[in-house]
Amino acid sequence: MKRIAVCPGSFDPITLGHVDLIRRATRLFDHVIVAVAADAQKQHVFSVDERVEMAIAACEDLSNLTVYSLEGLLVQFCRQHQATAIVKGLRSAADMPHEMQMQAINADLAPEIETVFVPASASTAHICASMVRWLSQLGVDISCYVPPMVAEQLALKYGNPAQ
Ligand code: PNS
Repeated sequence: MKRIAVCPGSFDPITLGHVDLIRRATRLFDHVIVAVAADAQKQHVFSVDERVEMAIAACEDLSNLTVYSLEGLLVQFCRQHQATAIVKGLRSAADMPHEMQMQAINADLAPEIETVFVPASASTAHICASMVRWLSQLGVDISCYVPPMVAEQLALKYGNPAQ
């Protein structure tokens, strides 16, 4: 049986921290699906199509990976794609309360789907998408935090020259 995992997130935009987590997940599972949450209740800087496009570009070298948008319940999406695991990254202890709450709800909804927490690599644990957006808005070079295509898209979005 093929082991399929889902890496869900807003990816607004995808950072090198996300890419590191996804890359490591592709080594743990036969196939990984990156699920980019549409989530109409959240105000995203990038549209879901833009976020999917950036995730595809960032992970183009990974052969056992697909990127889809996610609408509705995550566990339903997992069932539709025969995924048995949800992979989430933990950057620090501060991520735990929220992640544990989501894990518990997902376990209530679908006990057959296991959440797997992967600690962020030391080199990327400080990177977060909201910080990257904020810095980019202030005209700071964020190219050490995101894939090149994302740096270009942020520069276009905020009207900064590509760094
Ligand atoms: O990058 P984020 O914002 O931490 O990702 C959150 C995400 C997409 C994992 C979460 O919002 C989610 O699972 N959304 C799908 C809706 C759902 O299933 N909600 C119930 C789980 S608690």
